[in-house]
Amino acid sequence: MIKKLLLTGCLIATSFIHASQAEPTSARQTELHNLLKNDCGACHGLTLQGGMGPALLPEKLAGKPDELLVTTILEGRKGTAMPPWKPFMNRDEVVWLVGVLRNR
Ligand code: HEC
Repeated sequence: MIKKLLLTGCLIATSFIHASQAEPTSARQTELHNLLKNDCGACHGLTLQGGMGPALLPEKLAGKPDELLVTTILEGRKGTAMPPWKPFMNRDEVVWLVGVLRNR
């Protein structure tokens, strides 16, 4: 629990420090990749093929605009299990993450 809080604190601190950068540093990219696998994967499936949440595979996302996906990740979707990730990553990082999802 304490470990998790510390980790969360680090994530928040890192996102503030890098708030002005469009591309996350390579250390932050590793963190975001881990988050994608562990946290997003908890609902969207370990390989993001879908689970409680829909699949996040490139072919599934192809028809959806970046803005929709970025807003969904930042704000979550009210009335669904999709939580807001704004406290843990900034917009640039989410844009980068959507790029990762599209190019897997
Ligand atoms: C607690 C479960 C849960 C977690 C954790 C979660 N999601 Fe979701 N997510 C959902 C659900 C459920 C939906 C579908 C919402 C709906 O019905 O519109 C969704 C929808 C989405 C969508 C929109 C997909 C589409 O086809 O429109 C994206 C993108 C997304 N999630 C990305 C992420 C990312 C990135 C993470 C990790 C940072 C994440 N999610 C973590 C449950 C989750």
